[in-house]
Amino acid sequence: MKALILVGGYGTRLRPLTLTKPKPLVEFCNKPMVLHQIEALAQVGVTHVILAVSYLSDMLQREMEVEAKRLNIKITISQETEPLGTAGPLALAREHLGSDNDPFFVLNSDVICEFPFNDMIKFHKEHNCEGTIVVTKVEEPSKYGVVVYEKNTGKIDRFVEKPREYVSNKINAGLYIFNSAVLNRIELRPTSIEKEIFPAMATDKQLYAFELQGFWMDVGQPKDYLTGMSMYLNYVRHSSSDRLSRENGIVGNVLVDPTAKIGERCRIGPNVVIGPRVIIQDGVCLKNCTILGDSLIKSHSWIANCIIGWRCNIGQWVRMENTSVLGLDVSVQDELFVNGGIILPHKAISESISEPKILI
Ligand code: GDD
Ligand code: MG
Repeated sequence: MKALILVGGYGTRLRPLTLTKPKPLVEFCNKPMVLHQIEALAQVGVTHVILAVSYLSDMLQREMEVEAKRLNIKITISQETEPLGTAGPLALAREHLGSDNDPFFVLNSDVICEFPFNDMIKFHKEHNCEGTIVVTKVEEPSKYGVVVYEKNTGKIDRFVEKPREYVSNKINAGLYIFNSAVLNRIELRPTSIEKEIFPAMATDKQLYAFELQGFWMDVGQPKDYLTGMSMYLNYVRHSSSDRLSRENGIVGNVLVDPTAKIGERCRIGPNVVIGPRVIIQDGVCLKNCTILGDSLIKSHSWIANCIIGWRCNIGQWVRMENTSVLGLDVSVQDELFVNGGIILPHKAISESISEPKILI
């Protein structure tokens, strides 16, 4: 089977992390985002993954060559000359997706959940129509695609992308499976699958909803990345709790790379991810945050609800909070307060940031 992942462009909503690393390679819970998806696809027998990109980086190409070998699958990068939206990339990859009559997966690259790929295949074969989309329930449906469907069969009556008025709280989770017939609906031009293709498929009664069990999050923005992190850690707690740290000073769900070092009298957690080669000195308190690889947090600092980029250097007695995000190689001097700071790579911070702002 094949799968196409909609990787997209610059990942602007995850800046400053995406200024130095393409979004699919930014680590989420100590694994590049797109690898969560690719590994799960490989596990259900997908042998060819197409990454649809509108901006290509050498870094992505190199990393994907390594992963293709490791997982013994084929990974093709399909590059657009102009952004083709969420449907156009399927037309661009037509020669791959339509080369046989097998159904194929399509995924948004920024969603994280317990991927139900086997159950999706089974459900899709049972209803025997052109498409299946996975749906999940959220509290704030207006920022997603909303789906109205028959509860007992799953047949979709309406699909409304980013509705202004309340329609339902069941939303498109960004995971699909399609028959190759869907390719007949898509032309090679910028097209939104949500606004143009799904409504037409619903009208033709060719689109079905599969209800997702368990957690789900679109982690394409810092706040949601952190919410998704705590959901994922909770899932790890229930599925493979030996992956979580049980050292002294750990509170709740905490994932620590084995090469990281944590000092004495720290309080780490709940909901913390510590990347490879990170050094946490004595007396540090961390909650609800991700510390990416090779960073140093000096003694007695207090960090909550933040993402600390790679190779950062946080001084002693620093206090950071309120969805601050630090890019690659940022340093923060001793004793500073950082409140909602978005700090671009290679910056040295020598004054407190008391109100949320972007530091270039
Ligand atoms: N190749 C390519 N080219 N990919 C693209 C392009 C493009 O021009 N535009 C967007 N993408 C990719 C994004 O990188 C992302 O992985 C996916 O398509 C969806 O785009 P987002 O920009 O993240 O959309 P969204 O989060 O506002 O809404 C989408 O996801 C929701 C679930 O998280 C929609 O599919 C909603 O219906 C859905 O509920
Ligand atoms: Mg998204």
